[in-house]
Amino acid sequence: MPFIIAIDGPAASGKGTIARALADRFGFHHLDTGLLYRATGAKGGDPVAAAHSLNAEDLARPDLRSAEAGQAASRIAAIPDVRAALVAFQHRFAAQDPGAVLDGRDIGTVICPDAAVKLYVVASDEVRAARRAAELGADPQEMLAQLRERDLRDSQRATAPLRPAEDAVVLDTSTLSIDDAVARAVAEVLRVR
Ligand code: C5P
Repeated sequence: MPFIIAIDGPAASGKGTIARALADRFGFHHLDTGLLYRATGAKGGDPVAAAHSLNAEDLARPDLRSAEAGQAASRIAAIPDVRAALVAFQHRFAAQDPGAVLDGRDIGTVICPDAAVKLYVVASDEVRAARRAAELGADPQEMLAQLRERDLRDSQRATAPLRPAEDAVVLDTSTLSIDDAVARAVAEVLRVR
């Protein structure tokens, strides 16, 4: 059976960095599921049709990382039929040998509830805003407001809200270097691997 690592958490918590590092370390496939929602939002038109017809070109658009694309993603991600349209792709991805790391908001709770390892990565609002502002060359105060708005929408929606799975290990990266955060995540995987 493929080994699945589910990583969830709010925006800019460090989950993407940790997911990539774990995939490298263990030779697993990695899927940033946020990209599916970003690409769906960026495609425009009917979001359910957009989610059903996502292709490699949609996922390769260079403008998906912007704050605007993040906000658009968060809005269409609250639509149950959009989420349903993206489930099969995520399940197929997770079924690949020898294993897969998926990061997002609902991986441990909805997409891969039987994942061998579940991490819920958090960091203080200020730290997350500072990180994202540095990444995008944006104003930290503006990023803070945007992240809070997005997290609120993501955690209050009715379908697959952002929350830790009951059996997730919470990893707070606020005061950790990337190396230390990755080392803790690796240790969690090695406990069960
Ligand atoms: O992780 P990222 O910031 O790229 O995600 C963009 C948006 O996509 C999130 O704010 C969230 O609304 C949505 N998303 C989701 N479920 C996932 C991954 C992302 O609802 N598994």
